[in-house]
Amino acid sequence: MKSSRIKGFHGLSVSDRREAALGKIETEDNSLLTDGGLSLSQAQLLVENIIGVFGLPLALAPNFLIDDQEWFIPMVTEEPSVVAAASNGARIAREGGGFHVTSSDSVTTCRILLQTPSPHKSREQIRSMRSHLLTQLGEKDPLLLSLGGGPVDLQCDEFSREQTLSLSLHVRCLDAMGANIVNTMGEQLVTLLHEAGVGRGLGSIITNGMPQRETTVTAHFPLLLLGRSNMTGNEAAGRICALAQWAIDDPYRAVTHNKGIMNGVTAVTLATGNDTRAQEAAAHFHAARSGKYSPLSIWQIIGDDLVGTCKMPCAVGTVGGMTALHPTVKLLFSRMGIKTARTLEALMVSTGLANNFAALWAIATEGIQRGHMALHAQRQKK
Ligand code: MEV
Repeated sequence: MKSSRIKGFHGLSVSDRREAALGKIETEDNSLLTDGGLSLSQAQLLVENIIGVFGLPLALAPNFLIDDQEWFIPMVTEEPSVVAAASNGARIAREGGGFHVTSSDSVTTCRILLQTPSPHKSREQIRSMRSHLLTQLGEKDPLLLSLGGGPVDLQCDEFSREQTLSLSLHVRCLDAMGANIVNTMGEQLVTLLHEAGVGRGLGSIITNGMPQRETTVTAHFPLLLLGRSNMTGNEAAGRICALAQWAIDDPYRAVTHNKGIMNGVTAVTLATGNDTRAQEAAAHFHAARSGKYSPLSIWQIIGDDLVGTCKMPCAVGTVGGMTALHPTVKLLFSRMGIKTARTLEALMVSTGLANNFAALWAIATEGIQRGHMALHAQRQKK
């Protein structure tokens, strides 16, 4: 496996960087990367009333070792320092063994609101019909079923108001984000429930809270490498833990702490053709789940390492939506070997943790403005 730790990667020319990370590139793919990759006719397939296409920088963050695999991470962002911060965080994390990922099954959930004169009776009817309903729904998408996906559970939720009942339909969507799959199945379920006299559907739509989908990434950052500006590694790590505790105590700090994580997560979400609003909604919902807005990562010192863990639901896929249409996304997927939603989730949350580490490290030591200002100064010169 080729290492993604390439010293001086940022100093290479654009074409050398392309080749170092993606291998030999054909002329056609080179112009695709240069021109933004989306023709007017392709853009027309995505949204209405187009007048053009809108360019943004596509960058690669090197140094990522994720579950013992090397990765260059594709990132689309307009913010200076974000790619450098991700690369820098990953450089330190690889010295501690890299990022380690656990992720749940890719189950996406549809919420359904039923109108019923007797929620109690409807609840009992649904309980007794549950497995039959799941079988009927599964049969409506034989392709998904044959691949190992399909509906896995149907629950009645607790907080229904008078004459209404709220339901959750959980569907294993495999490598799809699943919005289209669950929205279709939710509407089919509403029809089945109406036909069975259980109740009338008032609404049926995916929940971006993604209650059954979660990815957790942990990385060790050796204390020995964290010393900076007349500060030892131990001191720097102690200050990073104090900043992380501040985010637990103060929601106004937590939201910015999480913004630093989303700098990485959103940039990867966009570069891989996924829905950034869905991902942002899922992450911030997760942060607010306990009733108090909280940080998406925790930091502690264990032995000789600073250890960070970041957890969030991921609302992404490698099939469907823009992933099937955008030529640059298709090129990145095939060149980098991004095949499954699980892989993509691992890349996203690892990048989020790397960005979070780099931001906290900078704030705890030399202050955020120093690095930021250096990049701004570079921009002024051009
Ligand atoms: C800036 O884009 C992100 C930070 O504000 C994150 C943080 O404060 O942790 C630097």
